[in-house]
Amino acid sequence: MDALPSFYDYLDGFRAEGWRRLTEGVGHGHSPCHMPSLATVDAAGRPRLRTVVLRAAEAGAGTLRFHCDRRSDKAREIAENGLAALHVYDRQAKLQIRVEGWARLHHDDAVADAAWAAARTMSRVCYGVEPAPGTALAAGDAYTMPEEDPEARIGRENFCAVVLNAERIDLLYLDRRGHRRAVFCREGEGWMGTWVAP
Ligand SMILES: Cc1cc2nc3c(=O)[nH]c(=O)nc-3n(C[C@H](O)[C@H](O)[C@H](O)COP(=O)(O)O)c2cc1C
Repeated sequence: MDALPSFYDYLDGFRAEGWRRLTEGVGHGHSPCHMPSLATVDAAGRPRLRTVVLRAAEAGAGTLRFHCDRRSDKAREIAENGLAALHVYDRQAKLQIRVEGWARLHHDDAVADAAWAAARTMSRVCYGVEPAPGTALAAGDAYTMPEEDPEARIGRENFCAVVLNAERIDLLYLDRRGHRRAVFCREGEGWMGTWVAP
């Protein structure tokens, strides 16, 4: 049987492991943390879910970043009600990560400019789709995407970087010898963590 991980009975280590996995997911396309599910709440209070690509994870600041089209439902929901959550289950690590907090749209500022500058051309063109995401079409192919052109800024006007400020993190590690679950809440500059029943 595998040795228990070092964070098994170490609360601070468990939180660090959650952030380590998220940070690793940013640069590794095969990591489950690369494509978390994002939850928002619509105007009627209904939960909405979808996949996003995780673009940054800052353990020190307690923030996560992803990108979206400002014309999309998720952008509207975040603008109206910033409550948001991300979910990942890493099967190999036997670790579920849930992050809840407040999301903020960055469209016309330094955060958005830096994110756009770092985005690949093939990602940028997605923001030039017409009509806007979610618009009903007469046929499945009745939309256009701009040509890929590294110099073009097509799509920039629709591009948003979204920063999720984590307020609560719930980690669940599954092991036959006994599961471990902990909840961490932001308290000032730091985090207050506690083990909870799985
Ligand atoms: C693998 C994968 C990655 C995706 N990444 C993103 C992303 O980073 N940002 C985004 O806005 N949509 C992304 N999408 C599309 C969303 O899941 C969703 O279908 C779309 O953005 C519309 O969502 P909304 O109507 O809730 O705004 C991705 C979808 C898949 C399947």
